[in-house]
Amino acid sequence: MTILVHTKADLAKARAGLPGRVAVVPTMGALHDGHRALLRRAKEIADAVVVTVFVNPLQFRPNEDLDTYPRSLDADLAMCEAEGADVVFAPSVNEMYPDGREGLTSVHAGPLGEVLEGASRPGFFTGVLTVVAKLFHLTRPDAACFGEKDFQQLAMVRRMVADLDLGIAVEGVPTVRESDGLARSSRNVFLSEAERAAALAIPAAIGAAQASPDPLAAARRILGAEPALDVDYVAVRAPDLGEAPAAGPARLLIAARAGTTRLIDNAPVVVGDTAIGDAR
Ligand code: PAF
Repeated sequence: MTILVHTKADLAKARAGLPGRVAVVPTMGALHDGHRALLRRAKEIADAVVVTVFVNPLQFRPNEDLDTYPRSLDADLAMCEAEGADVVFAPSVNEMYPDGREGLTSVHAGPLGEVLEGASRPGFFTGVLTVVAKLFHLTRPDAACFGEKDFQQLAMVRRMVADLDLGIAVEGVPTVRESDGLARSSRNVFLSEAERAAALAIPAAIGAAQASPDPLAAARRILGAEPALDVDYVAVRAPDLGEAPAAGPARLLIAARAGTTRLIDNAPVVVGDTAIGDAR
């Protein structure tokens, strides 16, 4: 039986009753199979699981999709029940930010927060890290699960946990893909049929990059051949998101817009070698 709570006070009571090691799965709801993989991993590594469902306004800019971001708490709760989560914390904006958002004390994301997603969405990672720090304090977890799909977010949460000595084991969970290779995302529901077809250039670019000694050029070639995709960035970086290595293991990261929907994806690649397995 999953307990649903909406307030910090009720969360504290529910948390006090949880046995052993606790894992938290922070989400913005609209749960899909990618989140299901997070819930399952959390079950494996802990005795009890807390899921948070909160569309965090701090990480949306005024021109972004805060108002239209999909919300489906009943279905989210059903998935959490089915996966044996113990507690779902679904607070209101007022519960999380009772004194408003102006002048709020925040977690500054540092230089890694200013590249890739951070360059395209200024302030995004400060918003993410601030809410994640709050959720960590409220749920007091031993472990936390995040998807590799948001690879930079995962790296930044790891960095925050290390820099601020939070003592939480951060678990990265591999990206879950549709049968055609598109990474699962809550925003996929916004794609028209034509946009979805164009979006498949992203997993195609990943596949080509993984088969090439020059992954960046290979990915660019595929993405450049899809006029209906507006590429925001395509980059190769070190696995810790530092400068790309001249040779060896690296990470390919892509952000692109299909219509008005912004999609991100990433995968391991090897520079200077015709490498590794398939992203799909
Ligand atoms: O990945 C997400 O869904 C969000 O960025 C997170 C981690 C729940 C913070 O709002």
